[in-house]
Amino acid sequence: MKEKPSGTSRGQFSNVGFILAAAGSAIGLGNLWKFPYLTGSNGGGIFVLVYLVILVTIGFACGLAEMALGKHTKLNPVGAFRTISKKWAIAGFLGILIPFFISTYYVVIGGWITDYLFHFIGSGASAMAPDTEAYFNALISDPIRPLLWTCVFVAINLVIVSVGIKNGIERANKVMMPALFVLLIVMAIRACTLPGAMDGIRFFLQPDFKSLSMDTVAAALVQVFFSLSLGTGCTLTYASYLPKETDLVRNALIVPALDSTVALLAGFVTLPAVFAFGFAPEAGPGLIFITLPAIFNAMPFGNILGFLFFLLIMFAALTSSVALLEPPIAWLIDTFRVPRKRATIGMCLASLLVAVPVSLSNGPNGWQIGGRSFFDFVIHITEDLMIPISALLLCLLVGYVWKRDSVRQEISQGGMYSFRVESVWYVLLRYVAPPAIFFVWLTSSGIL
Ligand code: PHE
Repeated sequence: MKEKPSGTSRGQFSNVGFILAAAGSAIGLGNLWKFPYLTGSNGGGIFVLVYLVILVTIGFACGLAEMALGKHTKLNPVGAFRTISKKWAIAGFLGILIPFFISTYYVVIGGWITDYLFHFIGSGASAMAPDTEAYFNALISDPIRPLLWTCVFVAINLVIVSVGIKNGIERANKVMMPALFVLLIVMAIRACTLPGAMDGIRFFLQPDFKSLSMDTVAAALVQVFFSLSLGTGCTLTYASYLPKETDLVRNALIVPALDSTVALLAGFVTLPAVFAFGFAPEAGPGLIFITLPAIFNAMPFGNILGFLFFLLIMFAALTSSVALLEPPIAWLIDTFRVPRKRATIGMCLASLLVAVPVSLSNGPNGWQIGGRSFFDFVIHITEDLMIPISALLLCLLVGYVWKRDSVRQEISQGGMYSFRVESVWYVLLRYVAPPAIFFVWLTSSGIL
């Protein structure tokens, strides 16, 4: 099918294009920014272990379910849920709302990264040092500067998305994803060969079972969904652009494999460097914005490495934010026949509009809700509350409501592709994932 970029046609990925785009959606700030600091503040190796166990069980099960649903229905989340059961259409709206709300803070962080990137081009890390914390705090609490960079970041998104599935998103991913891998490997080798790096590697890889708690499990599960872009409607929507002949099981294995490889590589870049320079791994969200620039400043060729590192985060953030815009855009196109360009501009503007109070809330007079800044509030509502519910509903829909024969037909394409994992997958989808997600939701929402 030939795509008409500015028309209302839905467009289609090639299978390689899908894998790159789905990996591009998955690999983002979640891997490069969040995974290292979550590992740092949740006890190191134990968090990594729990994360990986959840990834290969619940993560795989939900990923395959979401891909199958999207590919089968060829629709946005609302349309997809409605196709299986009219009563469930309302649940599909979570797949429109969640990516929209994530995009409102994602573009703000994208703006910070754009600022850092240009800073490294200009004056280098030395201008941020000696007090990188003061630099970061001044940036995020400034009323104007982060918003200007956010506009730059959104403008780049606008260009990529409005061009369409094949020419825009697929082409951008084909260039950016391989570049990211190469840069990350080079950086990891550099970090792991620093004197003193071994302590960081040990902290990262050696699980300490004494620090295992329900909070660690909850943080890991929320992170698996966020990092794999599951329960957000994004994987479903991307899968709706898949050609009929696609081996979904293989895709559902490749995407998490690439995603976790990048997360682990990011850990190998960040934590050894943090230990080598005597910083605390529990620094939290500021880890890459405060600790790393200080490290780059102290390193030979630090400016070049710093520039490369932020360039790489920028790539990863872009391929994810593009994915975040897609479910609402697909919904506007499918339901209201809005041309892609117009839908894209509308979504970008809406996202920017909400991004304004989100960004301002990091400032001294920012908007607070329930003791949190509006920025933290939107993150909490989407990641801790909405994503687990949406993922739970997806498991129930695919596991119990959608007819098993039809699911099998979709995944195996009438026996063309092996679906040997069928019974294991069903057990995970029906009996393991729903109670686990519900239990974690009770923790992450603060009820337990
Ligand atoms: N998975 C992306 C990341 O790790 C974020 C994202 C979430 C993208 C949901 C799309 C949908 O940064």
